[in-house]
Amino acid sequence: MEQTEALSKIYKAAYAPFFGIMLYTALDLNLPSLLQQPKTVSELAELTSALPNKLDRLLMALEVDGYFSFNPETNQWSNSPTTAVLTEESLKRLIKYLFWPFKYDILCSFPEWVKSEKSCPELRFGCHYYEGFKNNPELLKTFQGGMQSMTTVWNSGSKDIGVGDCERVLEIAGGNGSFMIHFASQYPKMIATVLERPEVVPICRRNIENHNLQDRISVIEGDMFENVPSGYDCIIIKHALIDWENDKVKTVLANIRSALNVGGKLKWFDVFGGRNTRNYFWSRVMDMHLGTILNGRVRTLEEVEKLLTESGFRMENIEIFTRDEFVNEEMEINPEASEYIAHAVAI
Ligand SMILES: C[S@@+](CC[C@H](N)C(=O)[O-])C[C@H]1O[C@@H](n2cnc3c(N)ncnc32)[C@H](O)[C@@H]1O
Repeated sequence: MEQTEALSKIYKAAYAPFFGIMLYTALDLNLPSLLQQPKTVSELAELTSALPNKLDRLLMALEVDGYFSFNPETNQWSNSPTTAVLTEESLKRLIKYLFWPFKYDILCSFPEWVKSEKSCPELRFGCHYYEGFKNNPELLKTFQGGMQSMTTVWNSGSKDIGVGDCERVLEIAGGNGSFMIHFASQYPKMIATVLERPEVVPICRRNIENHNLQDRISVIEGDMFENVPSGYDCIIIKHALIDWENDKVKTVLANIRSALNVGGKLKWFDVFGGRNTRNYFWSRVMDMHLGTILNGRVRTLEEVEKLLTESGFRMENIEIFTRDEFVNEEMEINPEASEYIAHAVAI
């Protein structure tokens, strides 16, 4: 690699956070939606309360990397093909969550993180990521909204995950309940429960009530490290074990195993991946993401099977769960193609 090429790659990495924060701000100002019809800077400034001079500079900086486009003849800005997709509500919320400035704040402690057993929020704020939400309902809402968008954008396809014949289903750490709402709507006989941390319970209940499913989905407060309630023929856990180190995961799996009868089903959804999977690039990025915010990790398919076997389960199979349209030949670098499901049975 020539020196100029190397330096150009390094410079791009150095300034990547700017693009993240600029895109977050553009979304915060609702620019992609406003620019569905071309507008001048002064028109945009009036609609957003941003200063025209700064707004112009923001748009020009984003334009150089393919976001937004300017027509010098009309003096108007419009969306580029990239920003045009940011008008869809759940995608907009997901991208805003991904560029959340809180994450940049946490990352200030990254250089310390590599030398410490602690996660970045513990180093920066002295408390665990989820503990930090307890006294900050706004942050919690942003987080759960982002998680909901991931469920909607990536996973809410019609894949049959083998729960159609289950009458009583428990989702552990089910966030705002979107996943159970999806399945309960699909299978009218299903009675479901979501187990969550106390501060998340009201958010989850409200979402279930908004879908008028309160008679079929209940929400209980609990701690998956302490106890998992029994009486279910299937237990689902999605994007929750990835948050923790192996010893913690083993505790949760043991609690799940105790709660199930022999033959009971466990459906473990997460980003999995290793050198032998096509999503290797993205699995490494996600491993850093989960590692820094929570001390979690992305596991290989072999590690998942080992953890299940050691915890009293037989792994039946492991497959990509992402919506079909995201699984394509570009999946090596396609973040959405990294969602897997491990189907296991209690033995
Ligand atoms: C990354 S989120 C995933 C939420 C949801 N499953 C989804 O996919 O949108 C992880 C969830 O685990 C919950 N959680 C963390 N610790 C927990 C515990 N000890 N017991 C139960 N839930 C917990 C958090 O409140 C959070 O909602």
